Amino acid sequence: MAGEWILTLTAQTPTNIAVIKYWGKRDESLILPVNDSISVTLDPGHLCTTTTVAVSPAFEQDRMWLNGKEISLSGDRFQSCLREIRARATDVENKEKGIKISKKDWEKLHLHISSFNNFPTAAGLASSAAGLACLVFALGKLMNVREDHSQLSAIARQGSGSACRSLYGGFVKWIMGKEENGSDSLAVQLADEKHWDELVIIIAVVSSRQKETSSTSGMRESVETSLLLQHRAKEVVPKRILKMEEAIQNRDFASFAALACADSNQFHAVCLDTSPPIFYMNDTSHRIINCVEKWNRSEEAPQVAYTFDAGPNAVLIARNRKAASLLIQRLLYYFPPNPETDMNSYVLGDKSILKDAGIQGIDDVEALPPPPEIKDKIPAQKNRGEVSYFICTRPGRGPVVLSDESQALIDPKTGLPK
Ligand code: DP6
Repeated sequence: MAGEWILTLTAQTPTNIAVIKYWGKRDESLILPVNDSISVTLDPGHLCTTTTVAVSPAFEQDRMWLNGKEISLSGDRFQSCLREIRARATDVENKEKGIKISKKDWEKLHLHISSFNNFPTAAGLASSAAGLACLVFALGKLMNVREDHSQLSAIARQGSGSACRSLYGGFVKWIMGKEENGSDSLAVQLADEKHWDELVIIIAVVSSRQKETSSTSGMRESVETSLLLQHRAKEVVPKRILKMEEAIQNRDFASFAALACADSNQFHAVCLDTSPPIFYMNDTSHRIINCVEKWNRSEEAPQVAYTFDAGPNAVLIARNRKAASLLIQRLLYYFPPNPETDMNSYVLGDKSILKDAGIQGIDDVEALPPPPEIKDKIPAQKNRGEVSYFICTRPGRGPVVLSDESQALIDPKTGLPK
């Protein structure tokens, strides 16, 4: 590599959780959905993808590494993203390093990409959304692409539908669009993360042995076989989107929670209506729903919303910190860790919620009283070991460039992952 320059750029991009779900495509290759969707971006401090992209005349082909392991870039989705972003590249000059790349050079130059998730990729926590969004965002910055985040979101969409919503922080809508070429199917920000910063999000990563159907093939089967999906896309979602936008604008938690829970349940009903039926939630997921529903009903107003994607993990959104600390008490009461589990590895992310709840160690968990809403009824069953761990987080910001070179994942001398 002697004498050849290497230019790198590192970015960090969040994951997102849909509160009005995307399920079903009207165009498989362009990834155009059958309905709008709305998501909340999660704090990248707890869940994010970091990606370094590097370019050099010395690179012989495009290569990518995920969590240190080389993966193939030959898939159509990666290729669409690379092609679309290259087509929009403009002149780049780095005076400090004496590097000049003109618009037309980008067609010939190859890229090295290294990506890392700060959470287990296999846990089913929307890693592809953050990953594809980060790839597109980082390449856009490296190649001096002038398009705004919405235009970039339409490129990320072609990598994975839900990825388009990770180009913004806070509350995001993916507008399905009408055009056949997909040019108007993109994400817009409804409100930033500061707009409703009382919300606390607790994710229960549910232990699962089952190999799940991927979102891509699951939604294809639903489009082909579920009549409920047609009804949902035409009649239900358009009205819900309007109501959800209003709930977010007014910080109306009661309405937000009712809509999010109903939409998650309808998405899973569509899965059940698919032939053959798809089961993403398991008994633990159902137990978590029961716990939340019972508690919400015992209060004057809902305290927590739940939503589940294409897997058994629960994403629970509490109205404020107080509700979150009461929620973690309930969750730990019903789902205590296995003996000898260190609480530090059982509740991850923002541990101050645990402190608010007065829980320091496993002894405090064992001493938790049953939640008042089940008093005088049959003693609640404990479901030890059904949850692998919890992550406490909050709504978070959109993608950022990390200018500190020590955070780069590619060695600027070798062009290979560090
Ligand atoms: C249940 O975005 O993973 O999470 O577009 O085929 O890559 P592809 O699917 P993907 O589907 C996400 C589905 C969901 C709901 C949502 O995020 O809106």
